[in-house]
Amino acid sequence: MLKLPVYLDNNATTPVDPEVLQAMLPYFTEHFGNAASRNHSFGWVAEEAVTQAREQVAQLIHAAPSEIVFTSGATEAINLAMKGVYEMYSTKGNHIITCATEHKAVLDTCKHLERSGAELTCLEVNREGIIDLNLLKAAIRPNTVLISIMTANNETGVLQPVKEIGAIAKQHEIIFFTDATQAAGKIPVDVQSDNIDLLCLSAHKIYGPKGAGALYVRRKNPRVRLAAQIDGGGHEKGMRSGTLNVPGIVALGKSCALGMQKMDEESKRIGGLRDQLEKSLLQLNNVAVNGNRVHRLPNVTNLSFAGIPGNRLLTEISRTIAVSSGSACTSANPEPSHVLKAMGAADDLAKSSIRFGLGRFTTQEEIEYAVETVKKILQNL
Ligand SMILES: Cc1ncc(COP(=O)(O)O)c(C=O)c1O
Repeated sequence: MLKLPVYLDNNATTPVDPEVLQAMLPYFTEHFGNAASRNHSFGWVAEEAVTQAREQVAQLIHAAPSEIVFTSGATEAINLAMKGVYEMYSTKGNHIITCATEHKAVLDTCKHLERSGAELTCLEVNREGIIDLNLLKAAIRPNTVLISIMTANNETGVLQPVKEIGAIAKQHEIIFFTDATQAAGKIPVDVQSDNIDLLCLSAHKIYGPKGAGALYVRRKNPRVRLAAQIDGGGHEKGMRSGTLNVPGIVALGKSCALGMQKMDEESKRIGGLRDQLEKSLLQLNNVAVNGNRVHRLPNVTNLSFAGIPGNRLLTEISRTIAVSSGSACTSANPEPSHVLKAMGAADDLAKSSIRFGLGRFTTQEEIEYAVETVKKILQNL
């Protein structure tokens, strides 16, 4: 039986997987210890769980456990990565390169750093949402300290050429940070083969709870050093103080382990449903896909409905299907998506674009319902 409303906003957040919930629950109650308590078993049990989670997160991205710093989510990890590099490497330079389609957590951190004296280059993207590697190379200066380019875009799913960016950064000895919040757990991510120095991820995008995330910080070739942004008890090697969120960390670890285990099967199944949704809606007039269709996450499609008033379309669809226009973080803001605008979409078209984000619990029946519902709405508008 189809249950309404249908949830197709898995890039905003995902439901917690029951297996993840089961894994985290004991750490609220019988195993409630503080992972920093060294002299009793409550602490040891908590610390053991954190150690296991650190291994699980590291495995997902081909890192070493000692390179994982737990945070409250991707936004905090982004702030730590970017502000931490900027402060730590101030004698080397103050120039940062990023790109126009990054998440606001990156763009607003860049603005903050600009106010503190950073020089910023914000690379444009092409119509398909991808940066030009020649422009990246040309933007590099002797005082460039950081390249921050996301792995997968949250609105379109478009993938940046991370491996090539990593190689360029390595060649110029510049630290490369990638926001992999949308990619980790959905597609293979490898900090070794791709020369990634810093990478963030977040539990609630991969069937874990909100409020848990991690930053990968490379320890070898080169060793990346960060200025802490939260001072205190010296947790997480002094990079992020504060009592560890043990249940959240256990859940993040489990989410990563499940993500790894299910990745192949899930990207086929979910990718198939996404393609079915896309193919059916593309048969209608004036519907087009925003962004590159090959270099893209398997679970998302961002479609523009030219000539249809965007707010009405979203209101109608939202009666029974949870979707979004633009990212959830900016949905209180009626401005057209900065991502679609950066890809060359006019304001009207950007406003009449909808992101459909499928996930682990999306069914064939739900996709069929979504297709029929959107078709009906378009006929009426
Ligand atoms: C690409 C990207 N980066 C960062 C974030 C922020 O993540 P969090 O909610 O864990 O702070 C999000 C979530 O919307 C995202 O999609």
